[in-house]
Amino acid sequence: MGLGYVGLPTALSLLDAGAEVIGIDISSQRLDNIRRGDVDLLSRDLGRLQRTTGHPRWFLCDDFARLSSADAVLICVPTPVTENLTPDLDALRGACAAVVGAARSGQTIILTSTTHIGATRELLSEPLSYRGLIAGRDIHVAFSPERIDPGVADHVPENTPRVVGGMTPSCTESAAQVLELTSPTMHRLTSPEAAEMTKLVENTFRAVNIALANEFADVAGEFALSVSEVINAAATKPYGFTAFFPGPGVGGHCIPCDPHYLLWQLRGRRRSAPLIDAAMTAIALRPRRVVARAEQVLSQQRKPLHDARILVLGVAYKPGVADLRESPALEILRDLQAHNANVSFCDPYVPSLMLDGEQLEHCENPQDERWDLVIVHTRHPEMDLRWLVDQPLVLDSTYRLSEVARAALV
Ligand SMILES: NC(=O)c1ccc[n+]([C@@H]2O[C@H](COP(=O)([O-])OP(=O)(O)OC[C@H]3O[C@@H](n4cnc5c(N)ncnc54)[C@H](O)[C@@H]3O)[C@@H](O)[C@H]2O)c1
Repeated sequence: MGLGYVGLPTALSLLDAGAEVIGIDISSQRLDNIRRGDVDLLSRDLGRLQRTTGHPRWFLCDDFARLSSADAVLICVPTPVTENLTPDLDALRGACAAVVGAARSGQTIILTSTTHIGATRELLSEPLSYRGLIAGRDIHVAFSPERIDPGVADHVPENTPRVVGGMTPSCTESAAQVLELTSPTMHRLTSPEAAEMTKLVENTFRAVNIALANEFADVAGEFALSVSEVINAAATKPYGFTAFFPGPGVGGHCIPCDPHYLLWQLRGRRRSAPLIDAAMTAIALRPRRVVARAEQVLSQQRKPLHDARILVLGVAYKPGVADLRESPALEILRDLQAHNANVSFCDPYVPSLMLDGEQLEHCENPQDERWDLVIVHTRHPEMDLRWLVDQPLVLDSTYRLSEVARAALV
C-alpha cells in the first residue's frame, strides 16, 4: 500500500522472493509512471521493474477492495510534516482506514511508515477491534520501520536488518515471517511502540549529529582548519565515534521531518526535548546560512548578490537520486532569487524544477559559461567537476570538493 520510494522497491523485492504482489497506490499518475518504467529507482530495480510486464504474480491497482485478498498488507505511505512542522497524517490515516475497512481474519498487517509512538495501536489495532478483529487472536498487527536508503545499493531490503514489534508475540512472529522474505536479519521488539520509537531514535540521532557536524564546521573555520580533515581523523577511532559531515542543510522525507513527530507528541504532553529542538532549528536555518555566505564571498569580490549570476550545482537532496523533497537547494534558490540574484541550476537527475510558479530548466553545459559564483550543493557520483577550477568563485557546501583547492566553505 503506497508505491513510492520505499513501497516500490519493497514490492519488487517481495516479487523476487516468490510472493504474489498486489501494489496499491492512491495515485493513478504514479501507477502509470510505474507501468511506463518512468520512476526514480536504482538501475537493478529498473531492470526488475521491466521484468514485471505481464508477470503472473504482479498486479498494480488503485482499488482498495483488493486489500481483502492479501495474506499480508505492508503500509508504506508518506508521513510528511506541514508548513508548521507538525505531522501531516492525512495519507497515513487514509491508508490505515482503508486497510482496516478491508481487513479480514487471518491477515498480517504491518505498518512501515515512520510515525509517532502509538500510531499502530491508534490507527490499526483499535479500529480493527471495533470491527471484531482482535490483534493476536483474529488478525496480526505490527510496526516495522522501513530503513532502506532509496537510491543506495548498499542499503536495499535484502541487506538491511529490520526491527519489528507486534501487538502480541504472535503478531511479531507473523510479521517477521513476512519480512524475512526480503530481509536477512530480524530484530524482534516487545511492542509496536518500541519499534516506532526505534525509528525516531535512528533519525533523530542523524539529525543531531548533522547539526553537530555543521557546528563543528563553524568551529573549524574559526581556527582555519578543515572540518573534513578533522572528522576523517576522528573517524579512525575504532569505538565511540561515527562520522557525520556538514552540509547545506538536510533534505528528504526523513531527517528534516521525523524528529518533528516526536517533538509534536512531546509538546502535547507538555514535555520538551531541548537538544533535539535545537538541532532541528539549526538544521532548518542552514540553507539561509549558505545564502548569507554566498553574499559574503561575492561582496569580497565587490560583486553584489543582486544581479550576480549564480549556479547551484546538484539540487537533489542527496547524491544518486532525483528526489527534491525538502531539498535545501530549493530554499537556497528561492532565497537567492528573493535577493534578485540571477540563478540557474545544473543537475543531470533533475531536468526542471518549479520555483514559486516559475519553471527553471537544468543547465546542460555549465562549464561553457562563466558564473559569478558556483554553489556546490549535491555531488552526484558521475559528476566531473574539474571545470570548476576555471570558475572565479566556488562555494563548497559539501565540504568535500577536492577539485578546487581555493573553494570557499559555508
Ligand atoms: N524515502 C526514504 O528515504 C525513506 C526511507 C525510510 C523510510 N521512509 C518512510 O517510508 C514512508 C514512505 O515514504 P516514501 O519516501 O516511499 O514516500 P513517497 O511519497 O515516495 O511514496 C508514497 C506513495 O504512497 C502513495 N499514497 C499516498 N496516500 C496513499 C493512500 N492513502 N493509499 C495508498 N497509497 C497512498 C503516494 O501516491 C505515493 O506513491 C514514509 O513514512 C517515510 O518516512 C522513507
